[in-house]
This record gives sequence, structure tokens and C-alpha cells, in this order.
Amino acid sequence: MNNLEVVRPPIEKPGIAGEYDLSRRCCRTPLLIDWPILGMLPQVLSNLCHIHDFVTNVLRQRGGTGEFMGPWFTKMNCMVTSDPMNVHHIMSKSFDNYVKGGPEFREIFQAFGDGMEDVKKLVYLHGALCEDLRLFPPVPIKRKQSLKRDTTLPSGHCVIDPNTIILLFTYAMGRFEEIWEKDCLEFKPDRWISEKGETIHVPSYKFFSFNAGPRTCMGKDLSFIQMKMVASTLLRNYHVQVVENHPTTPAHSTVLFMKHGLKVIITKRQF
Ligand code: HEM
Repeated sequence: MNNLEVVRPPIEKPGIAGEYDLSRRCCRTPLLIDWPILGMLPQVLSNLCHIHDFVTNVLRQRGGTGEFMGPWFTKMNCMVTSDPMNVHHIMSKSFDNYVKGGPEFREIFQAFGDGMEDVKKLVYLHGALCEDLRLFPPVPIKRKQSLKRDTTLPSGHCVIDPNTIILLFTYAMGRFEEIWEKDCLEFKPDRWISEKGETIHVPSYKFFSFNAGPRTCMGKDLSFIQMKMVASTLLRNYHVQVVENHPTTPAHSTVLFMKHGLKVIITKRQF
């Protein structure tokens, strides 16, 4: 039974965050599984304004993966994971992956090539943008579903029912010490820069903000070019100061954006 095999993916070169702890096994205790739906609701509702951090904390307590089932009549059957091994498995093995779009798709994006050489040299800015996307991934949750019954994930969790909704929780992945070391909550562009001053490659199932495997974001390189062009132009010409005590809660949306926007004071730089 091939689909029951637990395959540990080979570790790619350790990044600045070091190697993954291969001995790490996610908790096998189901998350919230014994919790009646009504008992759970008040907790979720009272934490709605910071739901991403709430779920991150619950996942942290559970070693990265948890299952959630409502009473039978709700047909609610869900697994939430932020374990890079599970992400690697789901994005590259027996799940509902399709190869990237056909040649016509590729042609459109080929025009951008590897990006403009000049913006590639902005190594520190690249690190800063990666830190931003690590801590605040614009797509914080991705949904998957298994095609087969009885699929065992590297963490040991078994997806028995193909109707189980699997949520890959990218937001929590950026905030786990096991993945990014003790200073995971710090904004540190340096973690992306090698001693030689080059950008460090981090496997996409660890830095999952652009998806991974055959369905990796096709606009990844282009978006870095755009972000670098906008950021470098703004920072070169203007001084940007964030307004203190402005509320910074996330909006209730599948895409991560700020409910009240980011309030800043902009002044023109004098050269
Ligand atoms: C910071 C900016 C961006 C982020 C964080 C981002 C993130 C993502 C993610 C997470 C996915 C996978 C969605 C899924 O299937 O669950 C995706 C797919 C995709 N993105 Fe982006 N994206 C960005 C910018 C762009 C830009 C600028 C373009 C186009 C110019 C683009 C084009 C695409 C396309 C075509 C796909 C579908 C790929 C496929 O399914 O084969 N993205 N992106």
C-alpha cells in the first residue's frame, strides 16, 4: 500500500535557520476533537480579532498539526498543519496537485526572465521583503484535500476520510522556533544573507508564502522585482514613519491585509 508509506523527504541544505529536527514528530493527540462545537465557539469568537495568532498558539501547543471535528451532523472534518514535512508531502506527493499550466502560460511569464539584474543586487532589501512575507504571508492559509483514503502524513497523522479539509497554515509556519529558530518572531533580514553576502536559498516548503512544488506562484520573481522597485523608489525619496498606537489588526479575510490600513507620516527627503 504505497499511499500508506511514510516517506521522509531529503533535507535540503540547511539555511541560516539550521537543519530541521528530523526526530520531531507532531503530536498525535487530535486537536479540539473532543471539544463539542458549542464549547469551542466562545474561544474562537473572542479571539476573532487576532485569529491567526490564536490558531498559531494552538498549533504550537500541538507540535504543528491538529485535527478538528464537529459533531456528526455538521460534517465538519478538518486538519490544520504548519509542519514543513507535511507541506512537502502534500505539495509533492499523493494530493491534488496538477502540473503547472501549459506552454501558453509559461510563454506569457517568460518575458520577465529572471528579473532585472539591478534589482537582483539588492540583497538586504530582498531579505527584508522575505521577512515581511514570512511573518505576514498574503495567503496565510491554503486548503487541500486528499484524493485517497488512509493517507499518512510525515507527522504521523492519518487522513482517513478523503472529505477531510486540510488547511496548510502558512502564517504559523513563519512563527515556529523549530523552523526559524528562537528569534523567529524578530524581523531579521540578515537571516536571508550568507556570510558571502549572497541571498540564502530557503526551501519553499519551509518558506511557503509563494506555495511549493508544481503549483509554485508563477509571479514570484516578478513580484520581487515590483516590490523592490516600489520600495527602493519610495525609501530613496521619502522618509516614512509609522504612526504610533495605530490599531494593526488583520481584516477578516482569506487574504491577509490590515483592517485599518497602515498609517504613516511621509516626508520628502532632502538631498
Ligand atoms: C507578493 C506577491 C505574491 C504572493 C505572496 C503570491 C502568492 C501565491 C500563492 C500562495 C499561490 C498559490 C495559490 C494556491 O494555489 O493555493 C500563487 C499562485 C499563482 N500566482 Fe502568485 N503571488 C504573488 C504575486 C503574483 C504576481 C505578481 C503574479 C503574476 C504576475 C502571480 C501569479 C500567480 C499565478 C499565475 C499563480 C498560479 C500558479 C499555478 O497554480 O500554477 N502571483 N501565488
